[in-house]
Amino acid sequence: MIKSSFTSCVLVSEENDHAIIIEPEKRGKYVVCFDPLDGSSNIDCLASIGTIFAVYRKETVDEPSEKDALRSGRDIVAAGYALYGSATMLVLSTGQGVNCFMLDPAIGEFILVDRDVKIKKKGKIYSLNEGYAAHFYPDVTEYLKKKKFPEDGSSPYGGRYVGSMVADVHRTLVYGGIFLYPANIKSPKGKLRLLYECNPMAFIMEQAGGMATTGAVNVLDIKPDSIHQRVPVVLGSPDDVQEYISIFKKYSK
Ligand code: F6P
Repeated sequence: MIKSSFTSCVLVSEENDHAIIIEPEKRGKYVVCFDPLDGSSNIDCLASIGTIFAVYRKETVDEPSEKDALRSGRDIVAAGYALYGSATMLVLSTGQGVNCFMLDPAIGEFILVDRDVKIKKKGKIYSLNEGYAAHFYPDVTEYLKKKKFPEDGSSPYGGRYVGSMVADVHRTLVYGGIFLYPANIKSPKGKLRLLYECNPMAFIMEQAGGMATTGAVNVLDIKPDSIHQRVPVVLGSPDDVQEYISIFKKYSK
């Protein structure tokens, strides 16, 4: 479909080892990085899955190549995701805020239902795979302890984890809170892919007033060195992500 839109020249897909270079007669000026079906381990049990994408404008006049996709998330011109949940929703940003479009199957159109969405400053939900607790680094362990046993008398956070990034990030956007897929001893780079998972979600979060970090750096500031590169990611409400960053910094000293 992207090829036949005559808009793009390089495609990076989670499903292909190498970038797809579009044939000259169908080329356009955009580079598209996407995960066509994210959270696919949830398909058989009918839990929500999604599609994630980021779009760049090709920077050079050189022959299109994989290198055209190795750009920092700061260069994104549009990004978002489609969530196939209890309704189908397209969440999109072209760099001027975030808009949500719901599919109306009766007319086959996506309807703008939430305009210029902003995330809560602070939420009440944390979201990560706690089954990896034995391999967590101490920053994550300490952060979770603070969420579960608050020392200031506030209520503990709720825990929610679908295991489908689009569903977990969308809930974080709508309800507020924090989503983490941090590095751990077994996966020192985390699991999620920079180009078509972390960058698009970081772009949406920042456009909605939230944050996305690896702990050490802002996700959108990373200059990728390979198309399927993994990075740790912590994103969501700004106060929650800031609190995680301060604990991360304490341990990285
Ligand atoms: O990268 C695919 C994916 O299914 C994401 O959608 C999800 O956030 C993550 O993997 C879940 O990984 P795990 O099973 O390790 O928690």
